[in-house]
Amino acid sequence: MIWDSNLYDSRHHFVTDYGADLLQWLQPVRGEYILDLGCGTGQLTSKIAQTGAEVTGLDASQEMITVATAKHPEIVFKQADAARLSYFAQFDAIFSNATLHWIKEQEKVTENMFSALKRGGRLVAELGGKDNVQSMMSAIARAAKTLGLEKKLVSDFWYFPSVAEYTTLLEKHGFAIEHAWLFDRPTKLNGEDGMLAWLEQFPAQAFEKMTQAEKQRVQQQTVAILKETNFVDGAWVADYKRLRIKAWKR
Ligand code: BEZ
Repeated sequence: MIWDSNLYDSRHHFVTDYGADLLQWLQPVRGEYILDLGCGTGQLTSKIAQTGAEVTGLDASQEMITVATAKHPEIVFKQADAARLSYFAQFDAIFSNATLHWIKEQEKVTENMFSALKRGGRLVAELGGKDNVQSMMSAIARAAKTLGLEKKLVSDFWYFPSVAEYTTLLEKHGFAIEHAWLFDRPTKLNGEDGMLAWLEQFPAQAFEKMTQAEKQRVQQQTVAILKETNFVDGAWVADYKRLRIKAWKR
């Protein structure tokens, strides 16, 4: 997945805006060691650091890490793959916003998060939940079929678990669940071309077997299909469903 840090901050800033709300579940305390898994350009990492916590930001994208470091030189940022961490009992808390659904190796990442926490440490995370962006993914599939391109469409590249599936995974690796909440969060996409901008960034893997021209035709057809359902009062709305978790390493 290639992220453009400028677009991330300018067009898709709702990801970070909503993440600020998740900080209320984290309640960082001065002096705590906190890992921000999937820190992007570091905006939420910096909010955590302002509480006096010692925070480390990790992201799989080197571009994001470079921008985060330039913006917040006082914070430690590192490029890392969450499925390949080697921390042991180092953190009081792990915070992760809109990241875990990008990772295929869920067993590994869960094991790594458990290992990275101190005993008594907490995990506060939000990811896409079951049926996240279903209307949009169905519209992409319909558009590809209409254009005879369904064989070139890649699917199943996200992990959007149900409450039962994700809590079972966490418990299997030793976590005790405090809260698990699956909720609808219709999300406004910025600008008249908001849906097209979203299609270009988020489900990029869906189109990776297509030529540029094929991809553009599918995206335009998808936008036309979604205009009826996801364009409300002059604004594009994505049918986000989020899964929010608080769990402990007891
Ligand atoms: C997100 O990162 O928030 C996201 C990713 C894929 C689909 C929807 C949302």
